[in-house]
Amino acid sequence: MQKNKKIFIYYSLTGNGKLIAKKLEKECDIRKIKVKKELPKSFFLQMMVGGFKSLINYKEKLIDFNNDVNDYDEVIIGSPIWNDRLCTPVTSALNKLDLSNKKTTFILYSGGGLANTAVDYINSKYKGAKVIQLKQPIKNNNELDKLNI
Ligand SMILES: Cc1cc2nc3c(=O)[nH]c(=O)nc-3n(C[C@H](O)[C@H](O)[C@H](O)COP(=O)(O)O)c2cc1C
Repeated sequence: MQKNKKIFIYYSLTGNGKLIAKKLEKECDIRKIKVKKELPKSFFLQMMVGGFKSLINYKEKLIDFNNDVNDYDEVIIGSPIWNDRLCTPVTSALNKLDLSNKKTTFILYSGGGLANTAVDYINSKYKGAKVIQLKQPIKNNNELDKLNI
């Protein structure tokens, strides 16, 4: 039988998602979501701008986003939590992806919060998708052990 082919499609602003990609790169192809305009450098402005963007579900302009997932049996989406929600680079990429008939897993990485709004969103839009939540894997390396992909 053919091997279950997987892809990890993710966004990362401060490196947590990147660390997860590094951990998964042996089992999955990796595709990073890039946006035209990143959040400002200052932490305070990041919270203001990113928090607001995620609240209004702002549509980001993506750079060269390849939405072809035909080759894959499983699509794993990686998103930092912004304001209890999926981040806007990921929601914008999801708008371009057809995940029907795909096994889908979401890996959410937060500063420690439980991200109920993001989980509700996933449960309503992606029925049957698996959700794995990690707390700041850069600071808590053992969080990566939860990645039973
Ligand atoms: C705009 C913004 C909003 C955030 N909101 C939350 C939040 O609501 N709850 C939480 O636990 N962490 C929050 N965080 C922290 C990130 O989710 C966390 O640091 C995550 O691991 C970052 O992933 P990255 O390093 O791949 O970008 C927020 C970070 C940013 C930039």
